[in-house]
Amino acid sequence: MRKQDYNMNILIIGATSGIGHTLWKHYDSMGHCVIVIGRRKELLDNMGKESENTHPILCDISNITTFDMAWENIIHQYGRIDLAIVCAGIGELNLKLDVETELSTLSVNVIGWTNAVASIYGLFERQNFGHIVTITSIGGMQPTPIAPSYSASKSFQINYTKSLQHKSKGTNIVVTEIRPGLVDTRMAKGEGLFWVMPLEKVCHRIVKAIDNKQKRLIVTRRWRILNFLLKHLA
Ligand SMILES: NC(=O)c1ccc[n+]([C@@H]2O[C@H](COP(=O)([O-])OP(=O)(O)OC[C@H]3O[C@@H](n4cnc5c(N)ncnc54)[C@H](OP(=O)(O)O)[C@@H]3O)[C@@H](O)[C@H]2O)c1
Repeated sequence: MRKQDYNMNILIIGATSGIGHTLWKHYDSMGHCVIVIGRRKELLDNMGKESENTHPILCDISNITTFDMAWENIIHQYGRIDLAIVCAGIGELNLKLDVETELSTLSVNVIGWTNAVASIYGLFERQNFGHIVTITSIGGMQPTPIAPSYSASKSFQINYTKSLQHKSKGTNIVVTEIRPGLVDTRMAKGEGLFWVMPLEKVCHRIVKAIDNKQKRLIVTRRWRILNFLLKHLA
């Protein structure tokens, strides 16, 4: 992967496992200062012990007060953020439409997510630069009866990211949407099990898209085809 010629301050929200964790390993190995957020303390502590470039912050983004306090501390301590990757998300199969499950999905994927993304965008406006990356899902392209709140929340994220892309036109702010199909993480268990892609391969593509400041990446090619069909034929 290409080496950056300067050290960035990178924030990864949802870095204790899966896509965020693999991206953390990549950016940490390049010597960048990486601030990582998640709810699992032990995993965060281990990441902090593994590397002096890594700065773990225990935070549940669905708790607005907790996130806002963590966010203020981040700004105070690090001054600027160059790249922010918002990976945090949950998704459960919910055939029975259990209301608690539906609401907890929305509280992370919509309420907490929006609070985090809007806070980051606001900082980038004040800095007059910055690159924000959202991880949405092909699942947001169609209604999914086995996981209604997940697909609806991802649809929300896709549209929200598009709005920010419009808003950022003519500024120094870059907004990238990563829209994966199924990826081999713990989340995939909640989404079905066909066409599951290797995590390393997906993250390699994501890093390339971030390096190139791409507007959107649908990973991988077969999911791009499905995304096209859903968009035009569904
Ligand atoms: N895997 C797939 O098939 C797939 C497909 C399309 C899109 N995606 C999207 O990719 C993103 C990453 O998921 P993944 O596949 O890498 O699964 P994952 O391993 O479950 O990662 C999710 C990450 O989000 C963090 N997180 C969840 N809720 C949080 C909260 N309330 N506050 C702070 N952090 C929170 C988790 O950390 P803690 O548990 O420590 O909080 C974890 O680090 C998600 O947005 C997911 O919707 C995944």
